[in-house]
Amino acid sequence: MAKAIVVREHGGPEVLRLEDVEVAPPGEGEVQVRHTAIGVNFIDVYDRTGLYPTILPTGLGREAAGVVAAIGRRVRGFRIGERVAYAHPKPGAYAQLRNVPADRVVRLPRGIDDAEAAALMLKGLTAWYLLRRTYRVQRGDPILVHAAAGGVGLILTQWARHLGARVIGVVGSEPKAQLAKKHGCHTVLVSGRDDIVAGVKQLTRGAGVAVVYDSVGKDTFTESLDCLRPLGMMVTYGNASGPPPALNPLDLSKRGSLFLTRPTLWHYVPTRQQLDAAARELFSMVKSKKIRVRIGQRYSLADVTDAHRDLEARRTTGSTVLIP
Ligand SMILES: NC(=O)c1ccc[n+]([C@@H]2O[C@H](COP(=O)([O-])OP(=O)(O)OC[C@H]3O[C@@H](n4cnc5c(N)ncnc54)[C@H](OP(=O)(O)O)[C@@H]3O)[C@@H](O)[C@H]2O)c1
Repeated sequence: MAKAIVVREHGGPEVLRLEDVEVAPPGEGEVQVRHTAIGVNFIDVYDRTGLYPTILPTGLGREAAGVVAAIGRRVRGFRIGERVAYAHPKPGAYAQLRNVPADRVVRLPRGIDDAEAAALMLKGLTAWYLLRRTYRVQRGDPILVHAAAGGVGLILTQWARHLGARVIGVVGSEPKAQLAKKHGCHTVLVSGRDDIVAGVKQLTRGAGVAVVYDSVGKDTFTESLDCLRPLGMMVTYGNASGPPPALNPLDLSKRGSLFLTRPTLWHYVPTRQQLDAAARELFSMVKSKKIRVRIGQRYSLADVTDAHRDLEARRTTGSTVLIP
């Protein structure tokens, strides 16, 4: 038996229940991971509310770190007791113990602690593909990053700065602006206080940015398009304020033959080899201190409702980790 969060109906944070669950031995191709730190992601909110369809009852959570507790048949390359971490599209990481397909699990190098790893596998790999694959940021590129003081945001801004981008962040408050500036942003605009489109135009001498990384969605989507230079890339990768509005393709043409993409991590690391290569690049950025992983808040697994309330109320900064 192990403790795990179970969702039996969609709804607010109150639907998150801590229960005792039976964990079967790992099946063929699986490893069993005893979690030491669990990453909280905004995606978990979409799963909880039903914005992303899930079959009930369901677990929650898509990334965690821990040690290998058992190994299923036909699994190679892991030892019992070894430190590992993973991001997995199937919810269920809010638990003490879990079986995960071995090809989603990576071994943790020295120099990356468990809490950092629990924050890195989903959020860090997202920053990796956004900057290195979706739009390959080049030295001197002006870029716009929404929710710059958040979990993905602080990793993305540090990495973008390292790549030589001119990083403009958008955040919800002045304290968050200070934090984002300490983590790679050259300039930070505060939503609700600053005119984002006018601010971006002024900072780029009227040209607009090369790429917008927009995870806020409904509230920011249209103004994000207006911040782009001709042939710029609009990357809408999240819905923290709700899903973005529908778009007529002609609007992309009118604004300067823009590119639009709605990516998700799982398509960028479909194979073991691609996952390993991405994780290697990410871990080396952290080990060489080019990226500092800021764990802004920690909660016990039993207090997960507080973690979700704080995340949705925009009270968190950096990454949030649950300790089982
Ligand atoms: N597509 C992918 O592959 C992928 C992978 C990982 C994450 N994501 C997306 O990336 C985003 C960031 O994820 P995260 O886990 O790191 O969360 P986070 O950025 O730490 O938290 C969300 C932030 O969004 C901002 N926000 C703006 N309007 C909001 C609203 N109405 N309600 C709540 N928050 C609002 C808040 O920052 P301010 O107060 O500063 O505005 C808040 O702190 C999420 O949208 C998530 O879905 C996508």
